[in-house]
Amino acid sequence: MPDRPVRTAIVTGAARGIGAAVVQRLIDDGARVLLVDRDPLVAETAARLGGVGLQQDVAEAGAGVLLAQAALDAFGRIDILVNNAGIGGSKALAASDDALIARFLDVNLAAVLRVTRDILPHLPRPGGRIVNVASTFGIAGYPGTTAYAVAKGGIAQFTRQLASEVAPEGITVNAVAPGVIETAMTEGHRRNPVYLRAVLEPTPLRRAGTPGEVAAVIGFLASNDASYVVGQVIAVDGGWLVGRYPPPEHETGDA
Ligand SMILES: NC(=O)c1ccc[n+]([C@@H]2O[C@H](COP(=O)([O-])OP(=O)(O)OC[C@H]3O[C@@H](n4cnc5c(N)ncnc54)[C@H](O)[C@@H]3O)[C@@H](O)[C@H]2O)c1
Repeated sequence: MPDRPVRTAIVTGAARGIGAAVVQRLIDDGARVLLVDRDPLVAETAARLGGVGLQQDVAEAGAGVLLAQAALDAFGRIDILVNNAGIGGSKALAASDDALIARFLDVNLAAVLRVTRDILPHLPRPGGRIVNVASTFGIAGYPGTTAYAVAKGGIAQFTRQLASEVAPEGITVNAVAPGVIETAMTEGHRRNPVYLRAVLEPTPLRRAGTPGEVAAVIGFLASNDASYVVGQVIAVDGGWLVGRYPPPEHETGDA
């Protein structure tokens, strides 16, 4: 029997955080990976993890075409696209000016549609995999980060929508919705006592997640093992979406 070709992946936002952990996971699983990030740190991360780095802003016009070309030049094929790049730190609607709203919807939502559209023709049929990174804040309401949450809610619907469009061709589209994960994006939040009390304490597991814990689920969704999983948005949130724990001092077990 001929050997299966080595799978190849494009991971956006791969210089650090969840993206870098996804790269590590995919490489550990035997894939070759193109790391894309607007931060020049991407070259160092790629060298450290053993992938190929591309410094590129995914929100720039034509980025998807450039990403596809870079992956085809490096590997000759593209099996997996992980849309992970995103920005955090938006505000409540009343404090959101036009530029902030436009930036969050463009980087965290519209750019994902544009990049995916331009890479989609190159994915194998059957077998192509797309994994998006949504957020628990795009599923449940949480005051204060409106444009971010709306964009991530859009990612969840984009996942279901595109999944239904391309599943007949044998391409699966799924997403993860991380809760609070220990990355640079949440560093300030994780030092803020109000946020800790409002978000981390009510989390049933009572802790933030690690990038590796998110990457493990993305790795599964990108694998052949997930061949019958279509259009799902899987929360990786320590239980935050399914239960709210009372503060520890009230934890008696009684209602
Ligand atoms: N950390 C969390 O708690 C959490 C929770 C829910 C969702 N997420 C999502 O996970 C993804 C990864 O976040 P993270 O926590 O690792 O954050 P992070 O800030 O550590 O990493 C994000 C990476 O994306 C890159 N990036 C941002 N905009 C880009 C652009 N336009 N083009 C190219 N690269 C760009 C950044 O340079 C950075 O390297 C994001 O989509 C984020 O919204 C994170």
